[in-house]
Amino acid sequence: MSGLTTDATPDAIARGAALLRDGRLVAFPTETVYGLGADATSEAAVAALFAAKGRPANNPLIAHVADIDAARDEALFDDRAERLARRFWPGPLTLVLPRSENSTLVPQVSAGLTTVALRVPDHPVAAALLRQAGRPIAAPSANPSGRLSPTTAAHVSDGLGDRVALVLDGGPCPVGLESTVIGLAGEARLLRPGGLSRADIEAEIGPLAAPEGDVLIAPGMTTSHYAPTLPLRLNVDQARDGEALLGFGSCPEATLNLSPTGDLDEAAANLYAMLHALDRAEFSAIAVMAIPGAGAGLAINDRLRRGAADTDQPKQAHG
Ligand code: TXA
Ligand code: MG
Repeated sequence: MSGLTTDATPDAIARGAALLRDGRLVAFPTETVYGLGADATSEAAVAALFAAKGRPANNPLIAHVADIDAARDEALFDDRAERLARRFWPGPLTLVLPRSENSTLVPQVSAGLTTVALRVPDHPVAAALLRQAGRPIAAPSANPSGRLSPTTAAHVSDGLGDRVALVLDGGPCPVGLESTVIGLAGEARLLRPGGLSRADIEAEIGPLAAPEGDVLIAPGMTTSHYAPTLPLRLNVDQARDGEALLGFGSCPEATLNLSPTGDLDEAAANLYAMLHALDRAEFSAIAVMAIPGAGAGLAINDRLRRGAADTDQPKQAHG
């Protein structure tokens, strides 16, 4: 365990909150993936965050807050936003809303857009950290830009090393996929499928529109993201020589299996950890069996497609 990584004891969380208030970067667990936190009210802290991840400045961040009241300070909540927030927060849901006039977020958090992305995470460590920090915390997934998201503290320190002041270790993330991002600035839109299913959201506010054609509404949605170093080959029946096989459902020959019983939530929780584990030079590629598209399968297939998108290009090794 790296010296920057520490068990998320109450003392460590208090130290993390103090570091955040001091403008430093602190990685912490949420129920979805580990986040790399920075004071969202500090221009310098947010600049340090973009630099540490190597993230393009036009890719806006999610501001994390302790509760719905804190969120209402930063954005305009209409009836749809109220319903979703009350039903699903804390939880794996991010709402993109019109920025309020008295928002405390520095404009760089939302890449200068007139909207802000807000989320109340459902993890005891994140909740305690946010309460003690006492301000919104910008937190993208705690990985170098474009690489696999981290679901353990070890993934974070492997990827970001000493670019972070402290990594709070709260164990593996139970959901394992990033939050679902819903745009509510106009028509309700699914901007990124994620840990909360589309069906659950539509049951609350009715049908969601798809992301708009070629308009860049969620920049993270259009570039190569979530990629392992090795090429990904999708929807395979069997591996070729030299490939690792990532299985789903009954498959004795799989190198690793997302869910031997075919459970999509279990597969989501295992996805990034198993891709991290198979992303080794001894294999030529990672071959992934077909995953059904229902429920968590929508977000799983979204991430796999993005991870496979640029496999023709040579890739750099992790952090
Ligand atoms: O589960 C999660 O959402 C994790 C944990 C740490 O909370 N965070 C996360 O952050 O995945 P990140 O930065 O990797 O992804 C944020 C997504 C990006 O696709 C970004 O483009 C979109 O949210 N986003 C943020 N602000 C936006 C805005 N104002 N309008 C449209 N999309 C926005
Ligand atoms: Mg990310």
